[in-house]
Amino acid sequence: MSIRFTRVAAVIAGTSLMLASATACSSERDGDSGDGAATGGTDSTATDEAPAADAGDTLVGIAMPTRSLERWNNDGANLETLLGDLGYETSLQYADNKVDQQITQLQNMINQGADILVIASIDGTALGPVLEAAAAEGITVIAYDRLINGTENVDYYATFDNYEVGQLQGQYIIDQLGLEDGEEGPFNLEPFAGSPDDNNAKFFFSGAWDLLLPYVESGVLTVPSGKAPASNDDWTTIGIQSWESARAQSEMDNRLNSFYADGKVDVVLSPNDSLALGIAQSLDSQGYTPGEDWPILTGQDADLANVKNMIAGMQSMTVWKDTRTLGQQVATMIEQIVNGEEVEVNDTETYDNGVKVVPSYLLPPQVVTPDTIEADLVESGFYDAAELGL
Ligand code: BGC
Repeated sequence: MSIRFTRVAAVIAGTSLMLASATACSSERDGDSGDGAATGGTDSTATDEAPAADAGDTLVGIAMPTRSLERWNNDGANLETLLGDLGYETSLQYADNKVDQQITQLQNMINQGADILVIASIDGTALGPVLEAAAAEGITVIAYDRLINGTENVDYYATFDNYEVGQLQGQYIIDQLGLEDGEEGPFNLEPFAGSPDDNNAKFFFSGAWDLLLPYVESGVLTVPSGKAPASNDDWTTIGIQSWESARAQSEMDNRLNSFYADGKVDVVLSPNDSLALGIAQSLDSQGYTPGEDWPILTGQDADLANVKNMIAGMQSMTVWKDTRTLGQQVATMIEQIVNGEEVEVNDTETYDNGVKVVPSYLLPPQVVTPDTIEADLVESGFYDAAELGL
């Protein structure tokens, strides 16, 4: 049993009651620490110079969806380091994109006596019951990058502006094709969307489609495969389950084999880098050549393989979300929660999870093109020039 600061207390500034409660409960947790073995792979860090009140007594459970995508490895490692440097105990777990595994990991974190849970969900609709258990223990829940739906037991959401990600991709396509300058095409477009169980995927698609659909309707953009959702709400019809590169590759193979016997694809709207990787492999295997007939291909995340593809002319852009800043924002939220300060958010309208609007902090995403890789990704220290072969 572990009662710590409650959800309500978390937003009340300077409550000594809360701090007393936090202290009392962390000693309960210490007595309970044997449960931690159940989770496996737990990494905890503490320093001698914990500046925040009670940081050393606060266990933060970090649930990440999968190790199979580069960004989540970076996200997890970054959060673990940031929070460790601030003196927090952490328990970082990856769930192999399996919903049941993530639920088990969360339950284990609750049993371990976690005070705060930071969760990048796999299926944002599947965590209601386990978060009910977290709420019963007074645990504060931060949805990380992806919203958690259908429950009141999520306190904050920290993410990048997901709709803006899609807008940046859509606007890039419009600019490259010169559509606002009157280019009439028709240009062949193939749109893709992300995993149907990921709440973000809807926002990415909507951001792009709000800009591109008018050109599809006017015939400037044509979609030979017919896979052009009539409205944003139909986005799951072109969703790629689990954001898998291999599924995107075979979907692209199918479209090219079935609908492009006599033509070429000019543009592929890919919502992220893992899909763009599979799509690029398909284009390559179908004989498209960088610098000649390679289509405009969008992405998101600035994954290493994709940045290399950009340098090789096999991807046109990526939307970079500097996950270091997201980790920093979450660390700030955690400090504010633990110190009993008001938690800073900048959006209290957009992210309705079906039960409540979750107070959110949205960070700005940024377009990176081959011309800006050096300035954006290398000079900021996100990548070494050497690992990009520059
Ligand atoms: C994230 C993206 C990522 C995708 C696949 C989304 O929820 O916001 O950055 O590319 O998941 O992991």
